[in-house]
Amino acid sequence: MKKLLITGVLLVFFSSCKKEKVSKEPMVYQPSEMAALMNRMYEENAKIKQQILNGETPENFPEEYLKIHTATLTDPSDRTSQFRQYSDLYLNNLRDIFETPKDSLKLEFNEVINSCIACHQTTCIGPIPRIRKLLIR
Ligand code: HEC
Repeated sequence: MKKLLITGVLLVFFSSCKKEKVSKEPMVYQPSEMAALMNRMYEENAKIKQQILNGETPENFPEEYLKIHTATLTDPSDRTSQFRQYSDLYLNNLRDIFETPKDSLKLEFNEVINSCIACHQTTCIGPIPRIRKLLIR
């Protein structure tokens, strides 16, 4: 268990999705369109979590997130067919939140967060510990 924990910590330090590339570009960090979208998704999901905890029902499916299929990635080669499947899984799970009866909101919300994590495990493991904090326990 301890070993696992240490490995986990090391993973966080040594891998984020900003791959260390030797860049000829200017030194200013410009988040990609996808990174910016991800950060908005993070914020929005934090809000949805709070709504659910307050006993409210989230109302509007954020259409903007359909852009996950087109937003420019830091590393465009990340958009594989597997990536597309994870994108759909995520969007479908998210849509469920807006259609599900109130008593299964928590469950459906965690499904969404788990689909964030599932994709991240294949592409970008750096933010996973942060994303896990969104889970409703
Ligand atoms: C289909 C795959 C996929 C799904 C689903 C996904 N992500 Fe990501 N995420 C990525 C990739 C790839 C990047 C790196 C983007 C880049 O650098 O262009 C990323 C980056 C991020 C980042 C870091 C952004 C930055 O500033 O570098 C955060 C935070 C994040 N995602 C949160 C989430 C959350 C929260 C969800 C679910 C609500 C989610 N992601 C769903 C693939 C995914």
